[in-house]
Amino acid sequence: MRTQVGIIGAGPAGLLLSHLLHLAGVDSVVLELRDRAYVEARVRAGVLEQPTVELLREAGVGERMDARGLPHDGISLRFDGADHRIDFRALTGRRITVYGQQEVVKDLIARRLADGGDLRFGVSDVAVDPRAATVSFRDSAGARQILRCDVLAGCDGFHGITRDAIPAGALTVHQHTYPFAWLGVLAEAPPSHHELIYTYHPRGFALHSMRSPTITRLYLQVPPDERIEDWSDRRIWDELHTRLAADGFTLAEGPILEKGVTGMRSFVVAPMRHERLFLAGDAAHIVPPTGAKGMNLAIADVRRLSVALTALLTGNDPGPAERYGADCLARVWRAQHFSWWMTSMLHTFPGHDPFQRELQLAQLRYTASSTAAATSLAENYVGLPYSP
Ligand code: FAD
Ligand code: DHB
Repeated sequence: MRTQVGIIGAGPAGLLLSHLLHLAGVDSVVLELRDRAYVEARVRAGVLEQPTVELLREAGVGERMDARGLPHDGISLRFDGADHRIDFRALTGRRITVYGQQEVVKDLIARRLADGGDLRFGVSDVAVDPRAATVSFRDSAGARQILRCDVLAGCDGFHGITRDAIPAGALTVHQHTYPFAWLGVLAEAPPSHHELIYTYHPRGFALHSMRSPTITRLYLQVPPDERIEDWSDRRIWDELHTRLAADGFTLAEGPILEKGVTGMRSFVVAPMRHERLFLAGDAAHIVPPTGAKGMNLAIADVRRLSVALTALLTGNDPGPAERYGADCLARVWRAQHFSWWMTSMLHTFPGHDPFQRELQLAQLRYTASSTAAATSLAENYVGLPYSP
């Protein structure tokens, strides 16, 4: 079996890369461990930056996003029991769109299949050779297959195998783990506020988000090794009521459809290319979710990678592919800083003394009251423009 680009992983990065390459006349095959139903149901990110929205629209996969996504012109920072709105539209002229990652994934799968794309779900035993640009795997029937390619794209997420195929000595790893995790809940309840609320509370961070006019998405800061079995639905609602309490605010409850705990880390590898293997998205970098940047970064990577691979494979111009990693990492490090900053400002840290808590509150009050500070948050949150 042969193709130009062998793509490992059918998350937002792998699927969008395959679609953008197709638009540029480059063939690809996408290999995915899970079945289609699983990847279409996996609840993860919810916030699309403006550059992401524009890219999906320009790529012709924004129709359902435009019909069902919820445009938001701001967010609230909630602390001292009151809301402080950051008005993105007034500060930057831009906005975000709340649209679930699994909806983006569904849209991309539907479009790839409509265009005759080759997506292989349910594969196993995937191994890549970065020098030969080959992938060996078992297909969903268990038969061993070899896929020969011009180049490979490792879009298999943080726990994938492509990064590990690069010799350790060729990679520099930067990482930081945080002393907490997020317990995420999807509830069949109307959002209790029309925008997202990021809450700093002495008992820990809480986030009110949503997926639709009838579905709320909520998160609670919990210890890093927390077991979801220890959180009954009643305990979750009680903790959310406590942390989100504010004058005039009532949290609507409803059946909890899904709940889970996610650890938080910052992670970057460099370079993002080895031989004929290119890494993109969570395979190369992870941010803590407080800035809502992970999926947006994955999409920014593959925008660049699709251009670089098209130039390499059809235009005989290796320049963009040589610069690929360095070009991506500038945006990645900006998002790393923003995500670390939001995380540091909004969470309670074990061992923090009253001095450190007062510093956090001073930063929150400054961010909420200074146009300069609020603009800095806003322009990062809505997404900085892509550099050429
Ligand atoms: P993934 O989505 O992880 O996709 C990788 C794919 O590769 C998966 O389908 C996986 O099954 C497959 N795979 C793995 N190993 C193999 C293998 N060996 N062979 C073949 N396939 C393989 N980001 C935002 O931008 N905004 C948010 O609001 C936000 N909120 C988040 C909230 C939570 C609770 C979490 C957990 C994440 C959040 N993120 C957010 C981050 C975002 O979900 C990720 O950054 C995004 O999924 C990265 O996309 P990806 O395609 O790089 O990787
Ligand atoms: C959501 C997730 C985030 O990480 C975030 O910062 C905002 C919203 C969400 O899932 O809706």
